[in-house]
Amino acid sequence: MKRTILTHISEVVTPQGSKALHGKDMGKVKRLKNAAIVIEDGKILAVGPNEETVEKYHITNIILKDMTGKCILPGFVDSHTHFIFGGYRPDEFMMRLNGASYLEIHKAGGGIWNTVQATRSMSLDEMVQTGKERLSDMLSMGVTTVEGKSGYGLDRECELRQLEALEILKKEQPVSLVNTFLGAHSIPEEYKGRSDEYIDFLIREMLPVVKEKNLAEYVDIFCENSVFDCEQSRRYLLAAKEMGFGVKIHADEIEALGGSGVAAEVGAVSADHLLMIRKADCEKLAASDTVATLLPATAFCLHKPYAPAREMIDSGCAVALASDYNPGSCFTNSIPLLFALAVIHMKMSLEEALCALTLNGAAAVGKADQIGSIEPGKAADLVVLEKPQYEFLVYHTAKNIVGEVYKDGNMVYSKR
Ligand code: NIG
Ligand code: FE
Repeated sequence: MKRTILTHISEVVTPQGSKALHGKDMGKVKRLKNAAIVIEDGKILAVGPNEETVEKYHITNIILKDMTGKCILPGFVDSHTHFIFGGYRPDEFMMRLNGASYLEIHKAGGGIWNTVQATRSMSLDEMVQTGKERLSDMLSMGVTTVEGKSGYGLDRECELRQLEALEILKKEQPVSLVNTFLGAHSIPEEYKGRSDEYIDFLIREMLPVVKEKNLAEYVDIFCENSVFDCEQSRRYLLAAKEMGFGVKIHADEIEALGGSGVAAEVGAVSADHLLMIRKADCEKLAASDTVATLLPATAFCLHKPYAPAREMIDSGCAVALASDYNPGSCFTNSIPLLFALAVIHMKMSLEEALCALTLNGAAAVGKADQIGSIEPGKAADLVVLEKPQYEFLVYHTAKNIVGEVYKDGNMVYSKR
């Protein structure tokens, strides 16, 4: 048994529960001043007022760590990323600044297809090495769990290689990973004009292999004009569910197709993007267990209106925030930027933004019973801020104020 107590914590701020919080409940975080956290064997044993908790849980051979002047939060969960990719697309970024649209570039054979070609020529080892660097960067911003998608192979071999890279990364670095198979990210050149046949190929030849090798927990699809429509998305996600996968969907990002409604219908764990969500679909999400995952850095980079976070929370949705880290629409993994956009521009309160990046992010990868809050029984995944109050997350705008990160009770990152 290994017990550590973090003492004299200026404040602990955390949502509470083991499920996604909906609507008003997102704002009800627990805030405890002068607190202590007791960690035993990688899990949280107790959290409470400093003196009383230290006295109650103090045993011999214990490690005590003084956290005076620091604020501690649950580890952040980045529940939507595409961080395994080859090459970069700076030219497209500049083209968009000059007026070209994301879908125009996509339809002209740039966009995702560009990255697919670069990713197909990557070795497994290169994927693992670049993946490691990107994860360590994310860890330094307090991210302790990351969902990673395939989707830049769009063929059997490279899709599997991306997922295998994620499997190797699970063992070689501290951030927890959740794998998502995104073979339905785009229609590959080989299937041009035959999107239904590509979906058939994924259902018949890819999903069974991914399942058999246990390479992914979730299956995702890009439901968008000139990619896959709602009917195809429904058919594909239902087939994936039947095979025992959880499902996710890129929905209503650029055009209002109704993918978020499909998410609620098929019982997806999350519906992601939602910039253009329609009111009726928002109500469907609110009444469902599907987490509405918003990716404001993508809206920011694409110069699009943000998803209507305020309306969604007010209608009772469970909202999560994630980075969407990818080389095209959103080449940033910045957690400080997410807090700034959510609170300053999307009218979310700081409490709601915190819940969205912790407990609700955890729910968006089906792990809210294990991570996402500082409560007894949960993993001791903790972010230690260099500041005494959590308001600095947004007040010290777009600045990384993370001093230390704990994963399963061990310090895995320190700024000093
Ligand atoms: O979530 N929208 C689809 N997929 C990514 C972008 C991928 C890319 O452009 O490479 C997204 O924004
Ligand atoms: Fe995405």
